[in-house]
Amino acid sequence: MTFYDIAQLKKYLAESGIALDFHEEAGSTNSIAKELIKDGFSEKTLVLAEMQTAGRGRKGRSFYSPSGTGIYMSVVLPPMNAEVVSLLTVLAAAAVERAIFAETGVHTGIKWVNDLYLNGKKICGILCESIIGKDGLLGSIVGIGINCATENFPEEIKNIAGSIGLSLSREKLIAAIIQNLQKFTKNPAEGMAIYREHCFMRGKKIRFLYDRKEFFGIVEDVDDKGGLVVSCEDGILRTLMSGEAEIIGKDYLK
Ligand code: BTN
Repeated sequence: MTFYDIAQLKKYLAESGIALDFHEEAGSTNSIAKELIKDGFSEKTLVLAEMQTAGRGRKGRSFYSPSGTGIYMSVVLPPMNAEVVSLLTVLAAAAVERAIFAETGVHTGIKWVNDLYLNGKKICGILCESIIGKDGLLGSIVGIGINCATENFPEEIKNIAGSIGLSLSREKLIAAIIQNLQKFTKNPAEGMAIYREHCFMRGKKIRFLYDRKEFFGIVEDVDDKGGLVVSCEDGILRTLMSGEAEIIGKDYLK
């Protein structure tokens, strides 16, 4: 177990013009980021924790965040145009995929919409949130959790969670993610292209809920808005903009 080299990290982050708010221990970095935005803080900031005691995932799930073996970060972003905000999860996934590849040479796969997989196991989850005030959008948060070297996962996730498992510099990986995120929020089409290339859902049979009904279908593509285009068994093409798609049958996770 190694701890963050904060001086080194600050040096890397200076290149991106982003401030660091580091915590040895946090409940949830997304919750801290939310408070910063509500308090009127508008600078680009990285909230980072060595460990989280209440890491949050989508759909009210928790995110296991032990000390020293993962990255638990939330990027505070000022108000941006609506198109970019709606694509933040997709752009963040592309940013993480490119950063992991650049730092380790490892190819991860993206499971729509917000998870990265390696060897059939989830190694990263993304939780984006936007804070709305009475006059509109106050800011957005890109929350990213990466299992770098975590080994002993709790019983309930031990079959689905995995780690990158290589020695890597967490400081460099974080800096690369931020740089990619800045690049892709300026040029969403570039991030979308990376997302499409690395999303391994195309051609897979899935089960999903749509208008609270269960559907089965084959994934055709991810559209420009980040929607999952599915050719359903009833012959209708449906586009999922949120929710979850479960890969079924003999199809496997990359
Ligand atoms: C998911 O798997 O559904 C998303 C997990 C997101 C976890 C990250 S860890 C840093 C940030 N703080 C949180 O509480 N959640 C995100």
